[in-house]
Parts: sequence; structure tokens; C-alpha cells
Amino acid sequence: MPRLDARDPAAIDDAARRLAAGELVAFPTETVYGLGARADDDAAVAQVFAAKGRPVDHPLIVHVADAAAAAHFAARLDTLAARLMAAFWPGPLTLIVPRRAGVASAAAGGQDSIGLRCPAHAVARELLRRAAARGVPGVAAPSANRFGRLSPTTAAHVEAEFGPALAVLDGGACPVGIESTIVDLTRGVPVLLRPGMLTPQRIEVAAGMPLAVRDGGAPRASGTLTAHYAPRARLHLFADAEALAQALRAAPAGGRLAVYSRSACPAAVAALQRRMPARADDAARELFATLRELDAAGVDQIWVEQPPDDPAWDGVRDRLQRAAAA
Ligand code: TXA
Ligand code: MG
Repeated sequence: MPRLDARDPAAIDDAARRLAAGELVAFPTETVYGLGARADDDAAVAQVFAAKGRPVDHPLIVHVADAAAAAHFAARLDTLAARLMAAFWPGPLTLIVPRRAGVASAAAGGQDSIGLRCPAHAVARELLRRAAARGVPGVAAPSANRFGRLSPTTAAHVEAEFGPALAVLDGGACPVGIESTIVDLTRGVPVLLRPGMLTPQRIEVAAGMPLAVRDGGAPRASGTLTAHYAPRARLHLFADAEALAQALRAAPAGGRLAVYSRSACPAAVAALQRRMPARADDAARELFATLRELDAAGVDQIWVEQPPDDPAWDGVRDRLQRAAAA
């Protein structure tokens, strides 16, 4: 089993039925694939933590069909939450808000807050609608990868993580490619917990106030751990071709190298080379698939050119820095 073809409405309905029954279903969102369980079922949610190998105190994002469904999980949604929901939902923005007491506590990893997201992907929306019709108020779904590994952007990536027994709704490749931007609204001022393709600038305009930067007091978020999103190969960042050549001379490389860069690199150094797109959104879309591909090719080191120092690249730069720290 079972890859379910999301072009078939019956397949989406089958996936909704499975979720309602407390089973796990992986599904596409515009960012990455999620590993879903009904958020109001602590036993179903426990299976997600077990499958991922994720510590049970690392909270999951709850996916909802619309803003009204968000109200079910939140103790309150203030003006700022309403503004950001109106501006960016459905879309790649997760909001951390105070959790309604007694609701989805396993999904929230025991925190008194909860992460809520209304995804824009047509398959995810249809799945959430059909699950809601079966009494599922929301779907807890972390990225469908084992803890600490690269997020999946295709159904095949999900299968590579969890094997063929897991039900995967196949909706093709994810159009954004990196995980949602996370903003914490529980701390008086909005705090950016995880950069994504939705930039701080746009959020600040909609919020009508500046975003604070995360500090040590912020709630736990595994996507914010320094070492995360790691390929198997050792990942290194380099500034330019000259810096790459210098680094390789200084530390004679063991094994096979891959280079992933926007600028041309000396051909001789790498067994494999991939060109990084010039635009941040294109780079984000293919980032995880490219790192998986290089991993699958069996290289020992992946040398990646630093993204430009431009806010449009914040999400991609963040993922690469974490992968390099792993
Ligand atoms: O794009 C995404 O956000 C994808 C798709 C599937 O929606 N999901 C995703 O989930 O990236 P995950 O679990 O891999 O990352 C969610 C992040 C984690 O770092 C988690 O700790 C944080 O959100 N998070 C969730 N609820 C939280 C809460 N109440 N307080 C602080 N952080 C929270
Ligand atoms: Mg993740």
C-alpha cells in the first residue's frame, strides 16, 4: 500500500476516512508533505511521534480547513492573529497562539500554545474539508520525514522515509518546497520562529508592526534546532569558487564530492555538480529534492554556495545553515 492518487476524488475521500479512523496519512501541502493524524485523537498523534522518532514534547502543527476551524483549537484569536490569517491564509504561514484548554494536548506536545496553519494546496484543502465532514476538527502534521532529516517534497520522498506501508496521498511535487514561516503570537509582540518563503517584510506590513527575532525564551521548535534538515552527506557552505578551492586545499577531501552552486565552479573538484537556480523561490522548490538526490548518489560531502544576502533567501539560507551544522 498505498500510494493514493490525489487526482482521484475517491482517493482523497479514502484518505479522509483513514484520518477519521485514527490512522496516519501523509499528504501534500504547498510547502512540504505532512504526516497527518487527527489532532483530537491523542493515540493517533502518538503514532506520529513514534513513526518520526520525534520527542513527544516537540509540538506538531495542526492543519485546519479555515479560520473558523482554527477557533476550535485556540483559547483566543486576537486582532493581530485575525489580520495575519486574513492576509495569508490559506498559505505557508503557521501561527502559534494560546491553546484552548483540554484540546489537542498531545499534538501540542504539552505546551499551552498551539501551532495552526491553513494550507493552500488544493489536495490538502480538499482532504481537510472531507475530514472535517467526518468530524475531524484539524489534522496534526509535522513534515513527513524522520526526526532531523530532510523534509519530503514528493510522495516518493515520503516512501523513502517510512516505507510502503504508510498511506500517502500523492499530489505531485510541492510548489513552495520549504516549510512554512512560523510566527509566535503568544509573547505580546509577534516573534519570527522559523523563516520561510513568506518574508518578514510582508508579515510586518500585514501586522502593522515589526517582527521580533527569536531569543532563548521562545518555545521549543524542532525546526529551530541548530542541527536539523540534514542530508546524510556532510554539508558545507562556501562563499565563492575561490573560497571553495581554498577550503578543499586546506582540508583534503575524503571520498566523493558534490557541488551545488549558483556560480560556475571549477569542474575538476566535484564528482557531481548541480546548478542552484538564480531565484530564491525556484531554489526553495528544488532544495530538498536536490539534497536527497545528491545523498542518493552516495556522495560524502556536499558543498553548497552561500545564498545571496537578501531577505528573499532567508528561508533557504536558514535550512542550509542548519543542514551544515548537523
Ligand atoms: O510547512 C510546514 O509547516 C510543514 C507542513 C507539513 O505543514 N510542517 C512542518 O511541521 O514543518 P514540523 O513539525 O516539521 O515543524 C513544525 C515546527 C516545529 O519546529 C515545531 O516545534 C513548531 O513548528 N511548533 C509547533 N507547535 C508549536 C508551539 N505550540 N510552540 C512552538 N513551536 C511550535
Ligand atoms: Mg520537520
